[in-house]
Amino acid sequence: MVKRNLVCGMDIGTSHVRAIIGEINGDGSINIIGVGTSPSEGLKKGVIVDLDKTVTSIKRAAEEAERMVGTAIPSVFLGIVGSQVGLVNNRGVVAVSGADKEITEDDVERVLQAARVIALPPDREIIDVLPREYIVDGYDGIRDPVGMVGVRLEVDAMIITGMVTSIRNLVRCVERSELEIDGMVLNSLANAEIALSRDEKELGSVLIDIGGGTTEVAVFQNGHIKNIAVIPVGGDYITNDIAVGLRTTIQMAEKLKLEHGVALATLVPENVTAELPQLSGKDVRKVTIRELGMIIEPRLVEMIHLAAKELDKMGYRDPLPAGIVLTGGVSLTRGIAELCEEVFRAPVRVAQPGYVGVKSPIYSTAVGIIHYVQNAHMFVARDQRGGRKALPGFLQRVKAWIMDMFD
Ligand SMILES: Nc1ncnc2c1ncn2[C@@H]1O[C@H](COP(=O)(O)OP(=O)(O)OP(=O)(O)O)[C@@H](O)[C@H]1O
Ligand SMILES: [Mg+2]
Repeated sequence: MVKRNLVCGMDIGTSHVRAIIGEINGDGSINIIGVGTSPSEGLKKGVIVDLDKTVTSIKRAAEEAERMVGTAIPSVFLGIVGSQVGLVNNRGVVAVSGADKEITEDDVERVLQAARVIALPPDREIIDVLPREYIVDGYDGIRDPVGMVGVRLEVDAMIITGMVTSIRNLVRCVERSELEIDGMVLNSLANAEIALSRDEKELGSVLIDIGGGTTEVAVFQNGHIKNIAVIPVGGDYITNDIAVGLRTTIQMAEKLKLEHGVALATLVPENVTAELPQLSGKDVRKVTIRELGMIIEPRLVEMIHLAAKELDKMGYRDPLPAGIVLTGGVSLTRGIAELCEEVFRAPVRVAQPGYVGVKSPIYSTAVGIIHYVQNAHMFVARDQRGGRKALPGFLQRVKAWIMDMFD
């Protein structure tokens, strides 16, 4: 039997866990053959806060996808929120210590230590420091300075940082669900595979994924990702506002939002109504869709303003040439592109995967992971690693995944 090349992309989001199984064909094309979705109860704002609940959600989503494919999936590629990993460039400088001024291993160790001195928020740790080049007495481009003679040794280093505790929890949940991790993909890079064309990445565009608990803003230009910001707001806030505003339960508010929600109150005629069961469960009350829109619109405007503020901080005050692309569940809200255009004064569209069965922006991340893995040939790396070898330490593995990501 020909071995099937199956890749599972797993998006552990605040509102749902989604497991998508793709088959990679010989010509590089992808068929989506398994889809599993399970409500996610163990996350807040993109971060795992309850391991057991998250494990249950992961197992459910994976099992559902496996049932469709008819085969067990031993391992997954995971999406990771942009805020959890980061790269920082830094320089270190030391005086060469020996009397003969010959640079030793010890000097190199000291200069790398010097490069580690950066201000980090308390939830971040340095995962690794990668020397890019050494500079001896002003001469740059040196790969290995040991044995050279000089007075001043500098290093230009790339520092990989991560929110180690939350990455550890993510890994733990997946492994407790009896799945191995093949690798990790930044959510924004996965989304871009689905949402942005090559031209858009080249010319400059902004990709905004508005999920249940987070909004991830990513800037692409010259073919690369330039910057990421993660804002801890999402569709859950809208649901909450509706529940408070219309005095109903979160469940009813969510249902009402999904069925009738509009981003612009003026999109609907004044007299259109929907039925809302009373809290007592006995009666139903009528609410106008415009009333609903008047609750949704200001919250969305606030979220869009927060995204604009992040872009401003990154130095992108003016719209990028290829405009703005939205994805994630909230981008399904009727009229959201129009509302966004008003705020950003730039063209806005909503993107979703093009495959039958997953044609919705809620699947962009999980399907995008499969695309990314295929384009970056990450599954080849996985297959070459072969079966289960003695696993290296946790930080070693995280480092390898992160390096794969930024390759
Ligand atoms: N048709 C719709 N109209 C409006 N909002 C919707 C619609 N469908 C889904 N949503 C909202 O989208 C959000 C979920 O989006 P998504 O599935 O992308 O989130 P997630 O990936 O689980 O969360 P996150 O990325 O924040 O961790 C929820 O708030 C949900 O109410
Ligand atoms: Mg998401």
